[in-house]
Order: sequence, then structure tokens, then C-alpha cells
Amino acid sequence: MPLFSIRAQALVAAALFCATAGAASAQTKKPGAPAAKPTANAQQALLGHEAEIDALLQKLTLEEKVHMIHANSAFAAGGVPRLNIPEIMTSDGPHGVRPEQGRNWEPPVGANDASSYLPTNNTLAATWNPALGYAYGTVLGSEANARGKDIILGPGINIVRAPLNGRNFEYLSEDPFLISQMVVGYIKGVQSQGVSACVKHFAANNQEIHRDDVDVSMSERALREIYLPGFKAAIQQGGAFSLMGSYNKFRGTWATENAYLMNTILKGEWGFKGLVVSDWGSVHDTQEALRNGTDLEMGTDLALMYKSVDQSAATATASAGAPAPARSYYDQFFLADPALEAIKKDPSLVPMVDDKVRRILRVMYATHMLGGAKRQPGALNTKEHQATALKVAEEGIVLLKNDGNLLPLKKSVKTVAVIGANAERANSMGGGSSQLKAKYEITPLQGLKNALGPGVTVTYAPGYTIARDQKADPALIAQAVAAAKTADEVVFVGGSTHGYDYTKWSDNAYDAEGTDKPDMKMPFGQDELVQAVLAANPRTVVVLLGGGPIDVSAWAGRARAVVEAWYPGMEGGNAIAHVLFGDVNPSGKLPFTFPAKLEDSPVYKLGEYPSSPGDPLKEVYKDDIYVGYRYYDTYKVAPQYPFGYGLSYTTFKYGALTVTPGPQSATVKLSVTNSGRVAGAEVVQLYVHDNQTAVKRPEKELKAFGKVFLKPGETKTVTLALPADSFKYYNESKKQWVLAPGKFNLLVGSSSRDIRQTGTVKL
Ligand code: BGC
Repeated sequence: MPLFSIRAQALVAAALFCATAGAASAQTKKPGAPAAKPTANAQQALLGHEAEIDALLQKLTLEEKVHMIHANSAFAAGGVPRLNIPEIMTSDGPHGVRPEQGRNWEPPVGANDASSYLPTNNTLAATWNPALGYAYGTVLGSEANARGKDIILGPGINIVRAPLNGRNFEYLSEDPFLISQMVVGYIKGVQSQGVSACVKHFAANNQEIHRDDVDVSMSERALREIYLPGFKAAIQQGGAFSLMGSYNKFRGTWATENAYLMNTILKGEWGFKGLVVSDWGSVHDTQEALRNGTDLEMGTDLALMYKSVDQSAATATASAGAPAPARSYYDQFFLADPALEAIKKDPSLVPMVDDKVRRILRVMYATHMLGGAKRQPGALNTKEHQATALKVAEEGIVLLKNDGNLLPLKKSVKTVAVIGANAERANSMGGGSSQLKAKYEITPLQGLKNALGPGVTVTYAPGYTIARDQKADPALIAQAVAAAKTADEVVFVGGSTHGYDYTKWSDNAYDAEGTDKPDMKMPFGQDELVQAVLAANPRTVVVLLGGGPIDVSAWAGRARAVVEAWYPGMEGGNAIAHVLFGDVNPSGKLPFTFPAKLEDSPVYKLGEYPSSPGDPLKEVYKDDIYVGYRYYDTYKVAPQYPFGYGLSYTTFKYGALTVTPGPQSATVKLSVTNSGRVAGAEVVQLYVHDNQTAVKRPEKELKAFGKVFLKPGETKTVTLALPADSFKYYNESKKQWVLAPGKFNLLVGSSSRDIRQTGTVKL
């Protein structure tokens, strides 16, 4: 079977926005913010209809059951009209609902398929505000409902391990604790609307190069401590109804059909009761898939991608007893005709197909597709959804440098030169499967014009061209320099882009699915351009767009102000302007480290990337548990900008810690004061350092944080809880998490490298 390889180829209460919205562990939490506390396994919610499901399983024929466990078109899987079981409709995900590709790839004429374009997941993670994760999820859930989608294919939560991964923009962080805190809210938000989230890609899909065939190995400890906690939280705390397997192999076996990942860990240890969806074309074998965890095989026929061939019509006729139509592309899937044949030959496989159908039916009940329950109508492109997009962008933008308080700029300015092709580039349709048709997208240039109004002259010079192999262009640089020289203030908007031409997948070379970035530099000769602009006018603010870290070493020393704005969504331009002109005080913090240079990163220093030497299809994660700041801090390598870092227009004073030990746990309290002149928010981060360890442990690990919003002069108490898990490591010989008694240092700070207060606890 041809596999799909390249593309395989809120309603949010205003209260959520302005209150202290801490992580699970922050004390001062506004009512209404979702709890991210470990609770009883949230998977129990899927078990409310077992008797009805038993009855349906009795009625379904084997053919009908098999019909339900594979795709029947690009984004839908088979229903059984005879028993009123509908098709299940999926849609990407993760930051908006995709244009109308529910069945085939050609949108129906006049489709109402524009949706809200939320900031990408880097931005969400950079807010360090779990309440915004919930708000974000409710927008997706609501819009999925309005568009008739049952499963949103997100969130994507793979660890940001390699700086060049083309899909880092879809993911959250290098840190499993931050991911866990953010993902729970996202999933609960989506599912509060009666739509299933589908957390992806399980597991070890941390790069796009060779994503379809690389065989990843890592220690059990790295798996448990770094790569799995986000998924575990998504399942057990978030209660995700579905999960997507990944394309790659894991320890020699395709991840999607990997007995250890799917059966032993996910469905066994974690008690997952929901649905495992394959990635599109990631199933490779009928027997393996039947036995080892995949419940629903998805994929798409490239030949049909742009043709309106409706497979469901054929299906409906067949179920009504008419002569069988010609077997379709989808009937040849591993979990289609070949599965039927295999089960007929070997009836011991029947319980396996029954389990898969049971899981599909559980998700259908949970999403009100069965049992006569009413689905919430949902809404598209509401003002509230747009407000959430704006809020996430405003809180996720990170101020990286602000020498001499160049920012915020004054609105009394007369002329602003906006330089850089990213200033007027729309990003919603880029990046691969996460592309979407935005209702509108405020570019940075438009946002600045909106903020400044007609009284201020805003000039624009692109400075570079977004095109394959484009180098610095002297004529465009000269034009940009001339614009910079005559302006009071200069805003350079550059960084990365989703690709050269988003209509051609193979051309996507930056921040795109199917390929990793060639290097960590800004493309298209921007380093040369930005240096020329900085020389022409030192009052230049550099705004970076992109997913993942960027090498800023060529010019960051000379720039007075640097802002990281990610892919900030449909309201991104407004959010950038609000931050630059001080309507919003930045409070975002980096969810991953920016290394000074690419070669410094642990995948090069310790690990293998993108493959083992001499074998492009193998990769051993020798960097082990030393991912991100766990590496930089333990191995004493200075990053450009550390994990958890981000500046504010105000200053915060941290009071001394009060540490109250509990049984195998501790509670840390401190006061935080806004000691500056404007209101602002601080993310108070608590890292644990094991003082007396007999095993290797990272220098420090994030175990709690809280985001606190303070008026000038205001003080609040932040309470950070450290349950037993905060002190444990995974012991490979015992095959369990272990708390080794001893003394632990508690490091509380404004970033991983800006520790303001310390304490200790003996357990
Ligand atoms: C991606 C998934 C996506 C699916 C459907 C795959 O290529 O890896 O993340 O959900 O396509 O578009």
C-alpha cells in the first residue's frame, strides 16, 4: 500500500485573563481556573456506557467492526448506518480547525471553513499560564463543534529536543513538567465542549528528518523522566479521550504498533481507556496493529487528495445490502480487508477487534455522538475566541533584551520604520498539517498601524525576500537602511517562516512538517540585514517570529531590544504592538533554551541527531536525561537565553522562602512584590536540586511554578506544592520511581539561571 510520506505525507471568562492563574501548585488561583492537580485517573469518565457498548458489539457484524477501525476518507472513519453509528470526523489541530478537508481534499464550494487561528503551541507554553491552556482548548472545542468535527488532532506535545526540528513550533517545551501543566488545561478545555482531544505523537517523534523510518532508542530513564510525563499527564489528569501514535520506530518496532508503548505503558500502566489513532500512514502490519495497540488506522490517498471522490456513498450502499462496490483505496488499509481476512482465518483475533471498536464507541459516547445526547452547537470566529487568541499572544511574547529601557516605545513617536518581510507575512496556511484558513490574520505591520493610528508615519521596507536559497540582497538592505535612518524608531520583524511556499510541502524548509531546518540562523540573509539596520539606527527593536530557538549571536550584542513573538496567531500583530508600546507588560518566559550556537546543544554534544553515525535510520538518544536546561546547567554551558527566561517592564522582589516539610513532600511559600512602576506578571519558578544523590541527576529540575499578577507596589504570597513525585527519579533496575532520602535544595527564581531565593528540605 502506498504510504503517505511527505504529507504522510471561550468562551473564556474575563476573570481567567487578569487573575493570578497559577500552575497546579500556585496557591492564588481564581475560581474557574481548571485544576491541574493529580486526581483519580480521569480516564474513568470514558466508562459510563459499557453496557450499551456490549449490546452494540453483539449486534455488529465482523465486517462492520472492521469497517469502523480504518479511515474511509482523508479525515473520517467508517460508521454503521444500520445501527445509527455515525462516522467519526477528525481535524487538525493543534492551533485551529483546518479548512474543510473532512472527507476529501477539495473544499466544497462556499464552505464555511475559516476558523480562529490561535497562537502556536510555543506561544501557549511561553505564557506559563495553565488557565490559558484551558481557554485555548475551549476555543478549539467550540469551533470543532461548529464545524462538525469529533476529534481535534492536538495537542502536539513531543519534547523540544533538537533545535532544528521542523515541527518544534507545534510543540510546547523542552521540560516535561511545563508540558504536563499546560497540556491538562488544553485537553480539559477541548473536551469541555464535548469534543475529543487527541494528544500526539506517541512517542519519541522529536524530529522530522526520517520521521517515517528512524528507529529511536533511549534509556528507560530518559523515556520515563523526559519523554513520557507529558503524555501521562494528558491521559491521567487531562483525561484525553484519544491519542495519536507516531511515525517513527521505537526500539526496533513502529511506535504505532509498539506493544511496550501502547499495551504495556499506555493501556496497561496508565489505564488508558480511549482510542489510539495512528498517524496518517503510520501502520505497517495487520497482525502487529491488531495486537499491539492501534485502534484506528488513518491515512490518506494522495491520488484522491485533490479529487472529490466520496467514499462514504459507497459504504452506505454496501451496508444497505446492495451489491458490493469496487474495493476502495481505504479498503486496502492494514486494518481493513487484510484484517478481515486475518480474523476470519484466526478467530482468536476477534477480542482484539472488539476492543478497538469498544474504544471507538467510548469516544463516541463521550463526545455525544451516540445515545441521543445533544452535541453543543459550538461557534466559529466569535469575539471571545479572538480575545483568547489575543490574550495568549500577549502573555506568550517574551522580552529577551531591553537595554536602557528602549521599550516600551512611546506612542508620541512621529515616524516608525517597519523592516522585514515577516512584518507582512501571513502564517496561518503554513507549516504542514496544522495549517488553517484564518478568518483574518493581523500581521505585525498591520498591528503596529492599528496601534499608532493615522497620526504616525509608518514606513515599510521588506529588507529580504522569502524564497528558496535567497541570500542577502544589497538593494533591499540599502532600502531598509534608508528607511531606518529617517525614522524615530525602527521595528525589525524577522526570524523564521513556515516555508517558502506553503502550497508546496516539499518546499517547506523552516518550521514545517516533513523536514527539519538546515541551521539555526535566520534565513534569507537576515543577519546581514539586521546588522546594517542596527548600525543605521540604534533605536531598533528586533522582533523574532518562528518556532524553536534562533541563533542571534551575530547581532544580539548590538541590539538594545529583542522580542520573541513565535507564531502569534490571528491577533499576533496587535499583540506585538501592545507589547512594544507598553499597553501590555510582557510576562512570557522561554519554554526552551536558546543555545548560543547550534553546536552547543546536547543533541550534538552528547547525543545523536538526526541519526547515528553511518546509519540514517537509527538514532540513540545518548543525551539521555540531559535535554535542554538539564544539560546546559549540569554541564555548565552558558546559553544565549536560558529556559524560563523573560523580562518585564517592571521589577519583582522575591521574599525569603518558608519551607514546610510534609510526609515525603514539601510546601514552599514566599512573597513576591512588584517593586516597579507598572503592573506586571511574574512566573515564579521552583527547581529542585538533589544534594546527596547516588545516581546521576540533572543540576536542577522544574517542579512547580506559579504566575502571579501584581499592581505596582503590590505583594502576594505564592504557595508552591512539591508532592513526593517532585523528588523522585526513575530507577531502571527497580523499574520504578524512587525517592532517595536526603537533602534537597529548593531553588526559586525568575528563570532557570536567575535563582532569587533558596531553601532546603530533608526527606
Ligand atoms: C501529522 C499529524 C496530523 C495528520 C493529519 C500527519 O502527517 O503527523 O500530526 O494530525 O497528518 O493531518
